Amino acid sequence: MTPSDREDPRDVIEEPAEGCPCSRRAFLQVAIGAGVALSASRPRADEPPPGSTALPKAGDRLVYAEGSRAGQEIKPEDILLGEQQIMAWPIDPASSVVRNGSRLNEILVLKLDPGSLDDNTRQYAAEGIVAYSAICKHAQCPVTGWDKQKQLLHCFCHATEYDPRKSAAVLSGPAPRPLPILPVKIVDGALTVAAPLRGKVGNQSV
Ligand code: FES
Repeated sequence: MTPSDREDPRDVIEEPAEGCPCSRRAFLQVAIGAGVALSASRPRADEPPPGSTALPKAGDRLVYAEGSRAGQEIKPEDILLGEQQIMAWPIDPASSVVRNGSRLNEILVLKLDPGSLDDNTRQYAAEGIVAYSAICKHAQCPVTGWDKQKQLLHCFCHATEYDPRKSAAVLSGPAPRPLPILPVKIVDGALTVAAPLRGKVGNQSV
């Protein structure tokens, strides 16, 4: 055997098991492969935390989505009767994970005269507080407008108007369906999600 027939001596590492003269190259290949596998199983820094993309669940609370109180819990007394909706994210109170990993999870919450709610809306409301998906059923803009005089939700993108007293029925504009309602209740003074959204979030062609 000539020197050229042998592997580079620097590539020969300690024999770890009988009959297995592993080379450095082979070892490195295994190590690199293992490293890739390890890094693949570890969450990346830019990945949303687990649970943040999940739709709101029973037991979740709501936090302000924007403004100077962003991230703070919305309390029932913060929601003023007949005033503009508050934009919110669900939060898992056990893990403190805010479910803002998907913009489709945005919620709007407002307070209305309980006597003005239709039967369906009333059963999912808590002391006049109602919550809906904030994502317009037309082209998925956030529904941020509020006509205080008419007490209607307004989407600025293409002017759909929703009636929050009537299960977010569409009164005008191109949206094909009402906003899904999010059942809420008050537990020990905290505004709490009572059940998942009633309906599919986002635009629907049928
Ligand atoms: S996205 Fe709301 S009306 Fe078009």
